[in-house]
Amino acid sequence: GKPVFISRHGESMFNTQGLIGGDPPLSPLGEEYAKVLVDYVQQSEELPNDELCVWSSTMRRARQTAAEIDKSRYVEWRALREIEVGVCDGLTYAQVKASFPEEYRAREQDKLRYRYPRGESYLDIIARLEPVIFEMERQKAPLLIIAHQAVLRCLYAYFLDLPSEEIPYLSIPLHTVIKLTPQAFGCNEKRFKLLD
Ligand code: G3H
Repeated sequence: GKPVFISRHGESMFNTQGLIGGDPPLSPLGEEYAKVLVDYVQQSEELPNDELCVWSSTMRRARQTAAEIDKSRYVEWRALREIEVGVCDGLTYAQVKASFPEEYRAREQDKLRYRYPRGESYLDIIARLEPVIFEMERQKAPLLIIAHQAVLRCLYAYFLDLPSEEIPYLSIPLHTVIKLTPQAFGCNEKRFKLLD
């Protein structure tokens, strides 16, 4: 099958401070990732760039990461936005634990199903990704998806057919392109760390 490349946005200003939620811009290091990602897209033999489609979330850090890539086939999806953390927006995990100890505990006990007050759960993300996956399956051209940790955990698990319970703990590091190539049985995976 045709490959799908997935990447988180470059490091954001919230990432540098350990804050969750928000719509922060890229950090200087994140901006550097946006640049090396362009080089990767243009030069990597893994990727036939002439027909590449690029999908981004509508969040600032994802848009900025996609900003310098050729946009002739570019689509933004609200459905690719990061998990909505509701009342915990703009907090560190330590602050969540201090301000909302019961919420913190509930999430630890069932991270897949836990829904932030006025926010979302991983199961909510899986539900809103359905049209994205539908459209992805219809794509003929290779695709690069620039999104977020929680969202990409769900997409990755879809490709590798992993049990939902594993989704909230999957490792999707920053500054790494993951190439997923569907095979007759399962999916081939290659990771490219573009920046330390
Ligand atoms: O800010 C949200 C994170 O990308 C999701 O991470 O589900 O491990 O808290 P978490």
